[in-house]
Formats: sequence, structure tokens, C-alpha cells
Amino acid sequence: MLLGVEIKEFQKTVWGYYAVNKRAMPWREKITPYYVFVSEVMLQQTQVARVMEKFPQFIKLFPNFKALAEAPLNELLSAWQGMGYNRRALYLKKAAEVVMRDYRGRLPQSPEELEKLAGIGPATARSIAVFAWNSPEFFIETNVRAVFLHHFFAGRSGVKDGDILPLVKKALPLPSLRQGSGGQAREWYYALMDYGTMLKKVNKNPSRASAHYVKQSKFEGSVRETRGKIVRLLTNSSFTETALAKRASEPIDKIKTALGGLMRDGLIKKDGYTFRII
Ligand code: ADE
Repeated sequence: MLLGVEIKEFQKTVWGYYAVNKRAMPWREKITPYYVFVSEVMLQQTQVARVMEKFPQFIKLFPNFKALAEAPLNELLSAWQGMGYNRRALYLKKAAEVVMRDYRGRLPQSPEELEKLAGIGPATARSIAVFAWNSPEFFIETNVRAVFLHHFFAGRSGVKDGDILPLVKKALPLPSLRQGSGGQAREWYYALMDYGTMLKKVNKNPSRASAHYVKQSKFEGSVRETRGKIVRLLTNSSFTETALAKRASEPIDKIKTALGGLMRDGLIKKDGYTFRII
């Protein structure tokens, strides 16, 4: 088990890095529950640089939960273009609808309530609680995992998140009376993420040591790519299967697979022979 002094050293390293290298991001400058909610869902599967570009455009079009809940899916998908994994746009809308209907437009604060919203898993629920309210929660995401693997599991492989989580908990700077209620949870996770991003660049992916590491599948030639093409074509239009195959320059079987997936996800529907966004 770790000694207090090892944790102190570790914290010093992370804070030291952050003091000099902290990254500015729009959702860290003006912090509102809505901005945190949108940005955390975006950051689940899209790189920071891309999200930095899209986030300001997105919140200009959909500035609050009400606007998002009422947004036509077509417009939402249009704004989501380039982010990938389109079903997250639908999840955002569904979650916003619930926030409007069941929580009078205010995002719930407890991770247990947040987890009930579409597209929000246990880790995102906790990252939202940390960043929106500075709550002292613990969670693991890719950058946090990289930091703990590098520092505490060097040379190991098949490390489980269950082995890492107690360390994340132990390393979280405790709220002190001096610092007010939440302590430094928010800044601490900013620091971990910035430090983890650097480690991943320098050390050729420390996450390979994780039992949970899944390399993102190749995009070129994937059904995911075809799905993206279809969503782009169907935004503000409708097409038949054959027309889609032609315009996307994809074989009809692949178009069929992608359409099936998009329908199952509730993003598109079939009207006679043509497909369109729901
Ligand atoms: N800052 C706030 N949330 C973040 C995230 N999910 N990834 C990287 N930096 C962040």
C-alpha cells in the first residue's frame, strides 16, 4: 500500500506540471453546469482540439438546456458534424429533455441522478460533478488512467481500473477548512488530465498497460465512417438506399448495415423507400 509521503510526492509532480502547463479551454473559463455537461459528453470520444473548435459554435446555437431540448435533430446533427459518434448528439438532446421535464431546467448534482441521463455513464457523471460543482468525486478516464499507470504501475500490464481507483481516491487532495467546501477537486482533475495528455504524447501511450485499453478502431473503411457519410447526406435531405450508396461511393451492403445501426440508435427512419433524420 502507498505511503502518505509517496502520494505527497506524486501530488507535487502533478501540481508542478500544471502550474506551468495548464491548458486554457472555453469550458474551464466560464463554468456552468450546462457548459460542463455539453463539453464532457463531447470529450468522451473526441479530441480536445476538435472539441475546442466545435464547442463555441454548438453553445451559440444551443445556449441552454431548453434550446437543446427543443432543437430539431437535423440542426443538432448539423452542428455535431466532425465530432463523430453521432448518437451522442441524440443523447444530449434526450438528457436535456429530462432535465427540462424532471428537474425544472437544472442539472442534478448527484452522480447517481446524473447517471440516469442518456449518454452519461458512471465516469462522466462524476466528471460532471467534479467540474460543475467542484465535488470531491473520483473517477477514471483515459488521461487520468495514463497518469496513474505511469506513476504507480510502471512495467506492469493488464492493470484493472479497480486497482487504480483506490489510488485516485487516495490522491485526491482533501477539502480543508481553509479552502472551503469542495477543496481542489476541479483543479486537481484539470491538472491530472493535462499531465496525462503530456505523458501520452511523450511515452507512447501508457494506457497499453491497462486491462481496459481498447485501441480506437481504424476509421477509414469502417462502418462508422459510412454512418458519418450517411448522416451528412441525410441532414436536411432524404435518400433511398441506392441513392445513398451512389453518393457515398459505398457498396450497398455496407450502406444497409450502417442504415440498420442508425435506425436502431433512433437517429434516422425509413419513409417508404427513403431514409431521413428522425
Ligand atoms: N477539462 C475538463 N474536462 C476535460 C476532459 N474531459 N478532458 C480534458 N480536459 C478537460
